[in-house]
Amino acid sequence: MQNAPILVIGSTGKTGSRIAKRLSEAGHVVRHGARKSEIPFDWERPETWPPVLAGVSSAYVSYFPDLAFPGAAEKIDALTKAAHGAGVKKLVLLSGRGESHAQYCEDIVRNSGLDFTLIRASWFAQNFSEGYLRDPALAGMIALSAGDVLEPIIDVDDIADVAVAALTDDRHTGQLYEVTGPRLLGFANAAAALSTAMGREVRYVPITLEEFHASMTEIGGPMIADVLTGICRETLDGRNQSLGDGVQRALRREPKDFGDFCRDAAATGAWRQAA
Ligand SMILES: NC(=O)c1ccc[n+]([C@@H]2O[C@H](COP(=O)([O-])OP(=O)(O)OC[C@H]3O[C@@H](n4cnc5c(N)ncnc54)[C@H](OP(=O)(O)O)[C@@H]3O)[C@@H](O)[C@H]2O)c1
Repeated sequence: MQNAPILVIGSTGKTGSRIAKRLSEAGHVVRHGARKSEIPFDWERPETWPPVLAGVSSAYVSYFPDLAFPGAAEKIDALTKAAHGAGVKKLVLLSGRGESHAQYCEDIVRNSGLDFTLIRASWFAQNFSEGYLRDPALAGMIALSAGDVLEPIIDVDDIADVAVAALTDDRHTGQLYEVTGPRLLGFANAAAALSTAMGREVRYVPITLEEFHASMTEIGGPMIADVLTGICRETLDGRNQSLGDGVQRALRREPKDFGDFCRDAAATGAWRQAA
């Protein structure tokens, strides 16, 4: 199995694209797991899973849209069983810090009989540069039901480094890595750092959970609004106001600071707008 492919589920996403690139650059054979990959993978079509899992040594699993969505645990369970059946040796699961549904899915992987590494991540810095908060940041206003809670925002590059280590080195087997940035940050401070890097004002506007739910209902409908509001209720209530040591334990180095992320993202044109 030395040269067996390593599967990256979500290989076109924020974490998966970085993991696939790093693995390829290090000489590993990567099997991409997204809907338009050479061998397509679709969470909604379980019949696509066996061909993607065939012959794979280990797999990175990022679930879409989020492990809190209805049906996610059943799919993680079914994927885990399919991986077992296909002879996959190890799963590396991306999970969310302070999320009960995500931790239920961690237990499914932990009890699967497969080797595993669990990566339990805090808020992604790249939410502001590649994710759903990029447009609001460019519009100058980030409205969240976060009050003055502090969050140790993590750079997705650090998650990718931890995942690559976990996929390629048995020393990480059986580990749960709580990966966070190196400092607790209020969203007003995050907005200030974004303002400096972007060269334009970005304001943080605290809103209530009810206001958040109403705006999400407009965008995605009531089911999506319910799930996303549930995630905010859980993860922005103060329970995550502490630093994790997963990056340090896995990589023996410090994670990247949010200010450095902002500077680097601006330098690479993350907020450049099409003319
Ligand atoms: N954002 C955060 O702050 C945060 C924090 C902690 C944990 N997380 C977790 O991170 C995970 C998302 O990872 P990410 O941000 O790296 O991904 P992402 O950037 O949201 O990208 C989503 C990926 O999923 C794929 N995808 C979408 N629909 C799919 C489907 N029906 N079947 C198969 N693949 C599908 C996309 O590929 P195609 O569209 O090309 O098929 C893409 O590769 C979620 O589980 C979330 O809970 C996020």
